[in-house]
Amino acid sequence: MEKLEKRLKEIDKKIDRFRIRIKDSKDLKAVEGVFDTFTLKTLYNLANKGYIDALGGVISTGKEANIHHAFGCGQEEQQEREIAIKVYRISTSNFRAMQSYLIGDPRFKNVRHEKRSIVFAWTKKELRNLKKAQSAGVRVPEPFVERDNVLLMEFIGEDEIPAPQLREVSLTPGEARKAFDTTVEYVRKLYHANLVHGDLSEFNILMHGREVVFIDMGQSVTLDHPNAMEFLMRDIHNVTRFFRKKGVGIEEEAVVDAVLGE
Ligand SMILES: Nc1ncnc2c1ncn2[C@@H]1O[C@H](COP(=O)(O)OP(=O)(O)OP(=O)(O)O)[C@@H](O)[C@H]1O
Ligand SMILES: [Mg+2]
Repeated sequence: MEKLEKRLKEIDKKIDRFRIRIKDSKDLKAVEGVFDTFTLKTLYNLANKGYIDALGGVISTGKEANIHHAFGCGQEEQQEREIAIKVYRISTSNFRAMQSYLIGDPRFKNVRHEKRSIVFAWTKKELRNLKKAQSAGVRVPEPFVERDNVLLMEFIGEDEIPAPQLREVSLTPGEARKAFDTTVEYVRKLYHANLVHGDLSEFNILMHGREVVFIDMGQSVTLDHPNAMEFLMRDIHNVTRFFRKKGVGIEEEAVVDAVLGE
Protein backbone atom coordinates (compact mmCIF):
# COMPACT_ATOMS: atom_id res chain seq x y z
CA MET A 1 0.00 0.00 0.00
CA GLU A 2 2.78 2.35 0.99
CA LYS A 3 4.59 1.49 -2.22
CA LEU A 4 1.52 2.24 -4.29
CA GLU A 5 1.07 5.59 -2.57
CA LYS A 6 4.68 6.46 -3.18
CA ARG A 7 4.30 5.65 -6.85
CA LEU A 8 1.10 7.65 -7.10
CA LYS A 9 2.85 10.60 -5.52
CA GLU A 10 5.66 10.24 -7.98
CA ILE A 11 3.18 10.40 -10.84
CA ASP A 12 1.44 13.37 -9.26
CA LYS A 13 4.63 15.36 -9.16
CA LYS A 14 5.33 14.88 -12.81
CA ILE A 15 1.81 15.02 -14.08
CA ASP A 16 1.85 18.70 -14.97
CA ARG A 17 4.79 18.32 -17.25
CA PHE A 18 3.45 15.16 -18.77
CA ARG A 19 -0.01 16.66 -19.23
CA ILE A 20 -1.83 13.37 -19.14
CA ARG A 21 -5.45 14.28 -19.52
CA ILE A 22 -6.68 13.02 -16.23
CA LYS A 23 -10.02 14.01 -14.91
CA ASP A 24 -10.14 12.25 -11.55
CA SER A 25 -8.18 9.88 -9.38
CA LYS A 26 -9.87 6.88 -10.96
CA ASP A 27 -8.14 7.68 -14.25
CA LEU A 28 -4.88 8.13 -12.42
CA LYS A 29 -5.20 4.63 -11.00
CA ALA A 30 -5.84 3.35 -14.50
CA VAL A 31 -2.56 4.81 -15.71
CA GLU A 32 -0.78 3.43 -12.69
CA GLY A 33 -2.09 -0.05 -13.49
CA VAL A 34 -1.13 0.09 -17.14
CA PHE A 35 2.51 1.13 -16.90
CA ASP A 36 5.13 -0.11 -14.49
CA THR A 37 7.28 2.49 -12.76
CA PHE A 38 10.18 1.92 -15.12
CA THR A 39 8.04 2.45 -18.22
CA LEU A 40 6.47 5.55 -16.68
CA LYS A 41 9.94 6.99 -16.22
CA THR A 42 10.76 6.33 -19.85
CA LEU A 43 7.49 7.91 -20.96
CA TYR A 44 8.14 11.01 -18.82
CA ASN A 45 11.52 11.24 -20.41
CA LEU A 46 10.07 11.16 -23.91
CA ALA A 47 7.41 13.67 -22.83
CA ASN A 48 10.09 16.02 -21.52
CA LYS A 49 11.91 15.79 -24.82
CA GLY A 50 8.69 16.88 -26.51
CA TYR A 51 7.83 13.61 -28.20
CA ILE A 52 4.67 12.92 -26.21
CA ASP A 53 2.10 15.54 -25.27
CA ALA A 54 -0.78 13.46 -24.00
CA LEU A 55 -1.67 9.83 -23.64
CA GLY A 56 -4.85 8.47 -25.15
CA GLY A 57 -6.39 5.06 -24.75
CA VAL A 58 -5.08 1.53 -25.08
CA ILE A 59 -5.31 0.18 -28.63
CA SER A 60 -4.13 -3.33 -27.96
CA THR A 61 -2.78 -5.46 -25.14
CA GLY A 62 -0.79 -8.45 -26.30
CA LYS A 63 1.60 -11.06 -25.04
CA GLU A 64 4.72 -9.09 -25.77
CA ALA A 65 3.62 -5.51 -26.09
CA ASN A 66 0.84 -3.02 -25.48
CA ILE A 67 -0.07 -0.35 -28.00
CA HIS A 68 -1.36 3.04 -26.86
CA HIS A 69 -2.78 5.96 -28.71
CA ALA A 70 -1.22 9.34 -27.94
CA PHE A 71 -0.65 12.83 -29.19
CA GLY A 72 2.87 13.91 -29.88
CA CYS A 73 5.43 14.87 -32.46
CA GLY A 74 7.38 13.11 -35.11
CA GLN A 75 11.12 13.62 -35.07
CA GLU A 76 11.57 17.06 -36.51
CA GLU A 77 8.11 18.48 -36.59
CA GLN A 78 6.53 20.87 -34.20
CA GLN A 79 2.96 20.10 -35.06
CA GLU A 80 1.09 17.79 -32.74
CA ARG A 81 -0.25 14.65 -34.37
CA GLU A 82 -1.69 11.29 -33.44
CA ILE A 83 1.00 8.75 -32.64
CA ALA A 84 1.13 5.12 -31.55
CA ILE A 85 3.23 4.06 -28.58
CA LYS A 86 4.40 0.46 -28.46
CA VAL A 87 5.45 -0.60 -24.98
CA TYR A 88 7.24 -3.93 -24.83
CA ARG A 89 6.65 -5.84 -21.63
CA ILE A 90 9.76 -6.36 -19.59
CA SER A 91 8.37 -9.38 -17.80
CA THR A 92 6.57 -11.74 -20.13
CA SER A 93 6.14 -15.48 -19.95
CA ASN A 94 8.74 -15.80 -22.68
CA PHE A 95 11.31 -14.23 -20.50
CA ARG A 96 10.35 -16.28 -17.51
CA ALA A 97 11.08 -19.39 -19.56
CA MET A 98 14.32 -17.85 -20.74
CA GLN A 99 15.25 -16.99 -17.19
CA SER A 100 15.00 -20.63 -16.12
CA TYR A 101 17.78 -21.45 -18.58
CA LEU A 102 20.00 -18.78 -17.13
CA ILE A 103 19.78 -19.70 -13.46
CA GLY A 104 23.17 -20.64 -12.08
CA ASP A 105 25.07 -19.28 -15.06
CA PRO A 106 27.55 -16.76 -13.62
CA ARG A 107 27.40 -14.69 -16.80
CA PHE A 108 23.75 -13.97 -16.13
CA LYS A 109 23.91 -13.22 -12.42
CA ASN A 110 21.96 -10.07 -12.95
CA VAL A 111 19.09 -11.71 -14.79
CA ARG A 112 16.71 -8.82 -14.25
CA HIS A 113 19.15 -6.56 -15.97
CA GLU A 114 19.79 -9.06 -18.75
CA LYS A 115 16.08 -9.41 -19.38
CA ARG A 116 15.78 -5.67 -19.76
CA SER A 117 18.61 -5.37 -22.20
CA ILE A 118 17.11 -8.09 -24.37
CA VAL A 119 13.82 -6.19 -24.50
CA PHE A 120 15.64 -2.91 -25.19
CA ALA A 121 17.53 -4.52 -28.05
CA TRP A 122 14.26 -5.81 -29.43
CA THR A 123 12.71 -2.36 -29.35
CA LYS A 124 15.72 -0.93 -31.21
CA LYS A 125 15.49 -3.75 -33.69
CA GLU A 126 11.85 -3.00 -34.47
CA LEU A 127 12.64 0.68 -35.10
CA ARG A 128 15.51 -0.27 -37.38
CA ASN A 129 13.41 -2.82 -39.27
CA LEU A 130 10.58 -0.33 -39.79
CA LYS A 131 13.05 2.24 -41.13
CA LYS A 132 14.55 -0.31 -43.46
CA ALA A 133 11.11 -1.37 -44.70
CA GLN A 134 10.15 2.25 -45.23
CA SER A 135 13.20 3.00 -47.33
CA ALA A 136 12.51 -0.15 -49.36
CA GLY A 137 9.15 1.36 -50.33
CA VAL A 138 6.99 -0.74 -48.04
CA ARG A 139 4.14 1.09 -46.32
CA VAL A 140 4.71 0.74 -42.57
CA PRO A 141 4.05 3.11 -39.65
CA GLU A 142 6.82 5.70 -39.76
CA PRO A 143 9.02 5.05 -36.74
CA PHE A 144 9.93 8.18 -34.77
CA VAL A 145 12.03 7.33 -31.77
CA GLU A 146 12.72 4.51 -29.32
CA ARG A 147 13.91 4.52 -25.77
CA ASP A 148 14.35 1.47 -23.54
CA ASN A 149 11.21 -0.63 -24.10
CA VAL A 150 9.17 2.12 -25.76
CA LEU A 151 8.77 2.80 -29.48
CA LEU A 152 6.94 5.83 -30.88
CA MET A 153 5.58 5.65 -34.40
CA GLU A 154 2.99 7.02 -36.77
CA PHE A 155 -0.58 6.21 -35.79
CA ILE A 156 -2.37 4.32 -38.56
CA GLY A 157 -5.96 5.49 -38.33
CA GLU A 158 -7.89 8.66 -37.55
CA ASP A 159 -9.52 10.36 -34.59
CA GLU A 160 -8.16 7.84 -32.11
CA ILE A 161 -9.65 4.94 -34.09
CA PRO A 162 -6.96 2.57 -35.36
CA ALA A 163 -7.20 1.12 -38.85
CA PRO A 164 -8.60 -2.43 -38.74
CA GLN A 165 -6.49 -5.51 -39.17
CA LEU A 166 -6.81 -7.26 -42.53
CA ARG A 167 -8.75 -10.12 -40.91
CA GLU A 168 -11.45 -7.68 -39.78
CA VAL A 169 -12.34 -6.04 -43.08
CA SER A 170 -14.68 -7.27 -45.77
CA LEU A 171 -13.29 -6.94 -49.26
CA THR A 172 -14.86 -7.33 -52.68
CA PRO A 173 -13.02 -9.87 -54.88
CA GLY A 174 -11.41 -6.96 -56.73
CA GLU A 175 -10.27 -5.28 -53.53
CA ALA A 176 -8.96 -8.58 -52.16
CA ARG A 177 -6.94 -9.09 -55.34
CA LYS A 178 -5.47 -5.60 -55.10
CA ALA A 179 -4.60 -5.98 -51.42
CA PHE A 180 -3.01 -9.35 -52.18
CA ASP A 181 -0.91 -7.96 -55.04
CA THR A 182 0.32 -5.15 -52.81
CA THR A 183 1.09 -7.62 -50.01
CA VAL A 184 3.18 -9.80 -52.37
CA GLU A 185 4.91 -6.70 -53.73
CA TYR A 186 5.82 -5.64 -50.18
CA VAL A 187 7.15 -9.10 -49.29
CA ARG A 188 9.22 -8.95 -52.48
CA LYS A 189 10.53 -5.47 -51.68
CA LEU A 190 11.48 -6.54 -48.17
CA TYR A 191 13.24 -9.63 -49.49
CA HIS A 192 15.26 -7.60 -51.97
CA ALA A 193 16.14 -5.20 -49.16
CA ASN A 194 17.51 -8.19 -47.21
CA LEU A 195 14.59 -8.43 -44.79
CA VAL A 196 11.94 -11.04 -43.93
CA HIS A 197 8.94 -9.93 -41.89
CA GLY A 198 8.80 -13.19 -39.96
CA ASP A 199 5.30 -12.90 -38.51
CA LEU A 200 3.23 -11.87 -41.48
CA SER A 201 -0.47 -12.67 -41.37
CA GLU A 202 -3.90 -11.03 -41.44
CA PHE A 203 -3.15 -9.88 -37.86
CA ASN A 204 -0.06 -7.87 -38.73
CA ILE A 205 -1.41 -6.18 -41.84
CA LEU A 206 -3.63 -3.13 -41.32
CA MET A 207 -6.09 -1.87 -43.92
CA HIS A 208 -6.12 1.90 -43.75
CA GLY A 209 -8.99 2.46 -46.12
CA ARG A 210 -7.74 0.58 -49.17
CA GLU A 211 -4.12 1.06 -48.16
CA VAL A 212 -2.14 -2.01 -47.06
CA VAL A 213 0.15 -1.33 -44.08
CA PHE A 214 2.62 -3.85 -42.65
CA ILE A 215 3.16 -3.61 -38.88
CA ASP A 216 4.90 -5.47 -36.03
CA MET A 217 8.47 -5.93 -37.24
CA GLY A 218 10.33 -6.61 -34.00
CA GLN A 219 10.95 -10.20 -35.01
CA SER A 220 11.92 -9.45 -38.62
CA VAL A 221 15.28 -10.87 -39.67
CA THR A 222 17.88 -10.25 -42.36
CA LEU A 223 18.56 -12.96 -44.93
CA ASP A 224 21.69 -14.13 -43.17
CA HIS A 225 19.58 -15.37 -40.26
CA PRO A 226 19.66 -19.21 -40.36
CA ASN A 227 15.85 -19.42 -40.46
CA ALA A 228 15.27 -16.51 -42.84
CA MET A 229 14.05 -18.64 -45.77
CA GLU A 230 11.86 -20.75 -43.51
CA PHE A 231 10.26 -17.56 -42.12
CA LEU A 232 9.84 -16.17 -45.63
CA MET A 233 8.05 -19.33 -46.79
CA ARG A 234 5.82 -19.24 -43.71
CA ASP A 235 4.95 -15.56 -44.36
CA ILE A 236 4.09 -16.40 -47.97
CA HIS A 237 2.06 -19.42 -46.87
CA ASN A 238 0.08 -17.37 -44.32
CA VAL A 239 -0.90 -14.59 -46.67
CA THR A 240 -1.62 -16.89 -49.61
CA ARG A 241 -3.86 -19.06 -47.44
CA PHE A 242 -5.74 -16.01 -46.17
CA PHE A 243 -6.31 -14.49 -49.60
CA ARG A 244 -7.25 -17.83 -51.16
CA LYS A 245 -10.03 -18.06 -48.58
CA LYS A 246 -11.11 -14.61 -49.77
CA GLY A 247 -11.43 -15.95 -53.30
CA VAL A 248 -8.14 -14.86 -54.81
CA GLY A 249 -7.08 -17.62 -57.20
CA ILE A 250 -3.36 -18.02 -56.67
CA GLU A 251 -0.85 -20.82 -56.20
CA GLU A 252 1.77 -20.57 -53.53
CA GLU A 253 4.62 -21.47 -55.93
CA ALA A 254 3.69 -18.55 -58.15
CA VAL A 255 3.92 -16.22 -55.16
CA VAL A 256 7.31 -17.65 -54.18
CA ASP A 257 8.54 -17.02 -57.74
CA ALA A 258 7.17 -13.48 -57.72
CA VAL A 259 8.90 -12.72 -54.41
CA LEU A 260 12.27 -14.24 -55.26
CA GLY A 261 12.36 -12.93 -58.85
CA GLU A 262 13.91 -9.62 -59.77
N1 LIG B 1 1.07 2.23 -35.60
C1 LIG B 1 -0.12 1.71 -35.29
N2 LIG B 1 -1.25 2.40 -35.56
C2 LIG B 1 -2.47 1.87 -35.28
N3 LIG B 1 -2.66 0.67 -34.70
C3 LIG B 1 -1.57 -0.07 -34.39
C4 LIG B 1 -0.25 0.41 -34.68
N4 LIG B 1 0.64 -0.52 -34.28
C5 LIG B 1 -0.10 -1.53 -33.77
N5 LIG B 1 -1.42 -1.28 -33.83
C6 LIG B 1 -2.51 -2.16 -33.37
O1 LIG B 1 -2.09 -2.90 -32.24
C7 LIG B 1 -2.03 -4.30 -32.53
C8 LIG B 1 -0.81 -4.94 -31.90
O2 LIG B 1 0.35 -4.34 -32.42
P1 LIG B 1 1.62 -5.24 -32.79
O3 LIG B 1 1.20 -6.29 -33.74
O4 LIG B 1 2.72 -4.33 -33.20
O5 LIG B 1 1.98 -5.84 -31.38
P2 LIG B 1 2.29 -7.36 -31.04
O6 LIG B 1 3.74 -7.49 -30.90
O7 LIG B 1 1.61 -8.24 -32.05
O8 LIG B 1 1.68 -7.63 -29.69
P3 LIG B 1 1.17 -9.08 -29.32
O9 LIG B 1 1.55 -10.04 -30.43
O10 LIG B 1 1.88 -9.40 -28.08
O11 LIG B 1 -0.30 -8.87 -29.25
C9 LIG B 1 -2.04 -4.38 -34.03
O12 LIG B 1 -2.60 -5.56 -34.50
C10 LIG B 1 -2.86 -3.17 -34.44
O13 LIG B 1 -4.24 -3.48 -34.37
MG1 LIG C 1 1.06 -8.31 -33.94
